[in-house]
Amino acid sequence: MNNLTDTYTLNNGVKIPVVGFGTWQSKDGDEAYNAVKAALEAGYRHIDTAAAYGNEESVGKAIKDSGIDRKELFITSKLWNRDHGYESAKKALDTSLAKLGTDYLDLYLIHWPNPVQFRDEWQQRNADSWRAMEEALDAGKVRAIGVSNFRAHHLDELLKTAKVTPAVNQIFLNPSDTEDEVVTYNKEHGILSEAYSPLGTGKIFTIPELKDIAAKYNKSVAQVVLRWSLQHGFLPLPKSVHADRIKQNTEIFDFELSDDDIKKIDGFHGVAGLAQDPDTTDF
Ligand code: A2P
Repeated sequence: MNNLTDTYTLNNGVKIPVVGFGTWQSKDGDEAYNAVKAALEAGYRHIDTAAAYGNEESVGKAIKDSGIDRKELFITSKLWNRDHGYESAKKALDTSLAKLGTDYLDLYLIHWPNPVQFRDEWQQRNADSWRAMEEALDAGKVRAIGVSNFRAHHLDELLKTAKVTPAVNQIFLNPSDTEDEVVTYNKEHGILSEAYSPLGTGKIFTIPELKDIAAKYNKSVAQVVLRWSLQHGFLPLPKSVHADRIKQNTEIFDFELSDDDIKKIDGFHGVAGLAQDPDTTDF
């Protein structure tokens, strides 16, 4: 792994750049537009958004204005909670495609397994959404499909009716929550673990020991934590709206953390928050 556009291979053979640019909490309009423009200029070719982020139009515009060939890009979006179901998932995908100004997505994910709105029928809703997504895959509207925030029991349930195994499970994954159980499940099923909030939404910067480790490698805390994510075989999706940080977060291929330091970083459980339990969210 030598640079930003090196790839992991998903379980259906599709190649995915090893680092993606996160856009959660980047505001629609100039903020998201400028962030994505800066990311593409810094060399990112993998952009992660979602219907729920409310910024697909700005992300799409930045992509279009960059002039980069669509085929060189890897674009992910996600099915929002209110749209779970066969017909509604089909419509939601078309809406995301229209907003992003593209005729296909590289990856489409079910954003959460158990929305409060469908808590008494989440199994059926996921099965129906998944069927719509499998059809979209056959129709070439998406190149890969996956899930987000799923735990083992949600995946077990989905796999009862799925024809296609999810390619990806995107989860809250950083030194404060290594989600060992989900990560092991993903590995055993050939599902790539993507890491959202790889910097703990900024909270990992409060861990003093990380500063010492970073100083040792002459790197920033962000770079060390993103490198930790890569060395675990995760796919980090760092978010920033500052061009200098966006660039800094790409400079993670010229050093290697020792096993000892990886273990030390593994040990910060809970220091910067934990993943939300998808079965008790209030959305
Ligand atoms: P900002 O967008 O203002 O640059 P995560 O990727 O875990 O969601 O973390 C994103 C948070 O970390 C944001 O608050 C972002 O702030 C901040 N951030 C991203 N990259 C860096 C960096 N290299 N140095 C310091 N803060 C960063």
